[in-house]
Amino acid sequence: MKINKICCIGAGYVGGPTMAVIAQKCPDIKVTVVDVNATRIAAWNDTDLNKLPVFEPGLDQVVEEARGRNLFFSTDVEKAIDEADMIFISVNTPTKTYGKGKGMAADLKYIELCARQIAEVSTTNKIVVEKSTLPVRTASAIKNILDHTGNGVEFQILSNPEFLAEGTAVEDLLAPDRVLIGGDTSEKGQQAIQALVDVYANWVPEERILTTNVWSSELSKLTANAFLAQRVSSINSMSAICEKTGADVNEVAKAIGMDSRIGAKFLKSSVGFGGSCFQKDILNLVYIAKTYGLNEVADYWEQVIVMNDYQKNRFSDNIVSTLYNTVSGKKIAFLGWAFKKDTNDTRESAAIQVADNLLNEQAQIEVYDPKVTEERIYADLDYLNTRSEEENRTLLKVKSNPYDACKDAHAIAVLTEWDEFKTYDWQRIYDNMLKPAFVFDGRGILDTKALKKIGFVCYSIGKG
Ligand code: UDX
Ligand code: UDX
Ligand code: ADP
Repeated sequence: MKINKICCIGAGYVGGPTMAVIAQKCPDIKVTVVDVNATRIAAWNDTDLNKLPVFEPGLDQVVEEARGRNLFFSTDVEKAIDEADMIFISVNTPTKTYGKGKGMAADLKYIELCARQIAEVSTTNKIVVEKSTLPVRTASAIKNILDHTGNGVEFQILSNPEFLAEGTAVEDLLAPDRVLIGGDTSEKGQQAIQALVDVYANWVPEERILTTNVWSSELSKLTANAFLAQRVSSINSMSAICEKTGADVNEVAKAIGMDSRIGAKFLKSSVGFGGSCFQKDILNLVYIAKTYGLNEVADYWEQVIVMNDYQKNRFSDNIVSTLYNTVSGKKIAFLGWAFKKDTNDTRESAAIQVADNLLNEQAQIEVYDPKVTEERIYADLDYLNTRSEEENRTLLKVKSNPYDACKDAHAIAVLTEWDEFKTYDWQRIYDNMLKPAFVFDGRGILDTKALKKIGFVCYSIGKG
């Protein structure tokens, strides 16, 4: 079965970059990305490539090459579904904020809406690919809806989880460690798997394309993220011990990372992990474990989240105690708001929790982030509902220049590891701050030796 037309529902951080790369690498396949959000689609179609809704290094060139050729962004969801042979579902699956499983289970309402829409519109057989992070057994729910509400056409459901990391999405898509495709073990299921394998084989070596049954594929996504997040929480737990004992967490990470059984990646101690996947996926895993009565398994994984919350709170507590137990009325400059560098995404960013804690202590915060907008920052804070929207805007200001943000500050907190922070004129920053001038480096990226020489009082995660 040869795929000629692909439709992707959801033009977000996953759908946008993934489809752009598929279109670039498969010029003979027409790829249409649809979204209900018309503003988002307009931004994807903007001739000014700086206005793409997702910032990812290298993405603008990929879009420029393929857009209008075989890559299209549209709000006409029904038309794109109807004409496609293969439909990717790439809509968001946030954690439920209501009802059963609140704060833990994935909210599948957007997925269900998509399935119903596909069933309603389709007049020819389709392969439906779940791309969003989904809890195990979602494919069967989608299949159920499609089979019982459709027009009698046949649907094959595949699971093809996304392993791209934000900030390196294009790189990860072009040269993935592996592509995982899960499908039905029946003959038709195997044919559907092969059709998707053939799409990826246009640029991914076949030995890196792994096929499994649907459940293994869905669970592998949660497992990969849980293991990665666990590594960060593990090294962060050690950062607390390092600070008490005089060990240096970077030295520890290097020493253990050279053990080939452990490996060097994901051992960078930080103010805490963020992003749309780690917390959500672990909570899903915890919820699934609880559902099956596996309470020890649930507790084991939940501790990864507990440790992450501890790390964020520990960082803000340390700022308060170091500034003589009060930050009331004191200006604290935040460098970075995104959950990591090279992305404008802020979902679950540690900066949000740290800011909220400090605002509770009546601090005045001024934020500078190279890529995150003011609207986004206020939306993140307002979403917590800790205080009124007016108070958030009075207590926290957003600056478009780092030197303004740091001017007259008592302290600077580094929340994201943007490379540009390392190259600032730190003498100039120091001269314009109140003394003693404190720096709290939540990412361990600054040259603290040089900063101390200038006169800063420095705290860096995991250094005793
Ligand atoms: C360990 C460390 O590996 C070694 O570096 C240190 O110097 C001493 O402690 P050891 O206890 O001899 O060595 O064995 P190891 O191979 O680490 O296995 C420990 C246990 O884990 C064994 O019971 C092993 O069966 C189990 N294991 C190991 C697993 O169950 N699964 C694995 O994937 C690996
Ligand atoms: C993650 C997975 O890596 C990716 O495979 C999956 O598809 C989606 O979730 P992403 O959320 O984009 O990707 O970012 P990632 O690079 O994994 O970082 C997640 C968080 O952990 C960030 O806040 C990052 O700053 C933090 N982190 C990562 C650390 O604090 N230390 C590290 O060593 C690595
Ligand atoms: P992710 O990181 O998973 O890509 P995003 O929130 O960035 O998440 O993107 C998901 C996109 O899916 C959003 O732009 C949202 O508007 C879109 N979306 C959600 N439900 C539907 C739907 N039923 N039809 C079309 N688009 C949808």
